[in-house]
Amino acid sequence: MSVEERRIVTRRLHERPEDSWTIDGALASGAYRVWREVLRTGDPAAVQEQVRLSGLRGRGGAGFPTAQKWSFLPEGRYPRYLVVNGDEGEPSTFKDRMLVERDPHQLVEGIAIASYAIGCNLAFVYLRGEFALGYERLTQAIADARSHGFLGRDVLGSGFDLDVVVHRGAGAYICGEETALIESLEGERGMPRIRPPFPAVEGLYAKPTVVNNVETLSTLPHIVEMGGEEYAKLGVNRSTGTRIFSVSGHVKRPGNYEVELGVTFRDLVFGLAGGIRDDRAVKFFIPGGASSQWLTGSDEHLDAPLDMDFVQQTYGVMLGSGAVMVFDDTTDPLLVAWRLAKFFAHESCGKCTPCREGTGWIEKVLYRMAHGMGRPEDLDLLFDVGDNISPGVVNAPFTQTTICPLGPSVVSSIASLHRYFRDEVQARVGVSA
Ligand SMILES: Cc1cc2nc3c(=O)[nH]c(=O)nc-3n(C[C@H](O)[C@H](O)[C@H](O)COP(=O)(O)O)c2cc1C
Ligand code: SF4
Repeated sequence: MSVEERRIVTRRLHERPEDSWTIDGALASGAYRVWREVLRTGDPAAVQEQVRLSGLRGRGGAGFPTAQKWSFLPEGRYPRYLVVNGDEGEPSTFKDRMLVERDPHQLVEGIAIASYAIGCNLAFVYLRGEFALGYERLTQAIADARSHGFLGRDVLGSGFDLDVVVHRGAGAYICGEETALIESLEGERGMPRIRPPFPAVEGLYAKPTVVNNVETLSTLPHIVEMGGEEYAKLGVNRSTGTRIFSVSGHVKRPGNYEVELGVTFRDLVFGLAGGIRDDRAVKFFIPGGASSQWLTGSDEHLDAPLDMDFVQQTYGVMLGSGAVMVFDDTTDPLLVAWRLAKFFAHESCGKCTPCREGTGWIEKVLYRMAHGMGRPEDLDLLFDVGDNISPGVVNAPFTQTTICPLGPSVVSSIASLHRYFRDEVQARVGVSA
């Protein structure tokens, strides 16, 4: 297994582990060079074009093309805002935290480039409240960037003004969903909005708003430096470039690995993460954060490429937030499904009935199934409740009766149990195969 990391966004933090987050460390390894050049060239449209050519897709979960999202901003309407999604609440995702803590200047430079490209003079970072060190380092980085003239009024004599405000979240997973995040920033309860209008048209304070993930923005200086076409040569098909994958669970070396898209799950799990503890077999893995459906330890699944469209179209799973949770052959899939359901039931904001009620019922039914109290009719009951959240639960998991995708996320586990572990689950509730 000879795959190696392809470090672009994580290069600096690995090269200068002693001081990568400080202004001196960052400047010594090239920070703000691209930002200077962007301002010198003075052409926001050219930046947008490089991002379009790069094929960059959002790293926050949905994989939406970044340049296309920016293009939805209505012409001539100002002010407009950039909101940085640093909430990172998806269970087992821990890449944004690393980027904020260990290379905050790269993020600030990415924010500056994006703001310039879209014509924003005030950006907001919504940072997960628990990231105490990240908050300290990011606010210091913003202060240092300001005192070096990279932010503030008339940045580097260009006539462009930009400031960045950091807001700390208070621990609700739903506040990572972009419209709930906007509500929360406005001081309201973090509950998703019904769309349309989309944030690009009516977002923060009812102004045109772009919401982008920390990793997405941290990639921008490199795209502009390399050129969009060069960046697009990395990766595979419409999954261009590199991504950071947070690998966790029963692997020998859990951690964040930045790889070129197109390498396989096997490369990640057995190559970079060192294989399974005690050299056991993989029973199943969750390829893209807790909201995704699962894959198994079969050769076919392990050899699938990290290609957002391929895994979606072939297996109905997503690369999502880049969190790969690996479970060995000692794992009880019912317990995992129950634990995930417990999380979603706890985090449901309660705005829509199918999610508010359904996540709770699913959690209770899975609990009894996983703890030896299951009933023969339980699997059908799960499908029935799941079908009210995500109609066509088994074959069309991305339909939804809810305002946001949190509700349907709980159904991903049920669909996976049905697809791969039906016999095992049936046997547990007293139904013979
Ligand atoms: C329940 C839920 C939680 C989410 N949590 C996050 C999060 O913590 N961080 C994030 O970047 N995106 C999260 N997203 C996705 C955001 O809504 C949004 O798509 C993303 O921030 C856009 O940035 P990108 O285009 O750069 O990926 C979440 C979505 C949902 C439905
Ligand atoms: S699906 Fe759940 S989390 Fe999303 S808006 Fe509805 S109740 Fe809230």
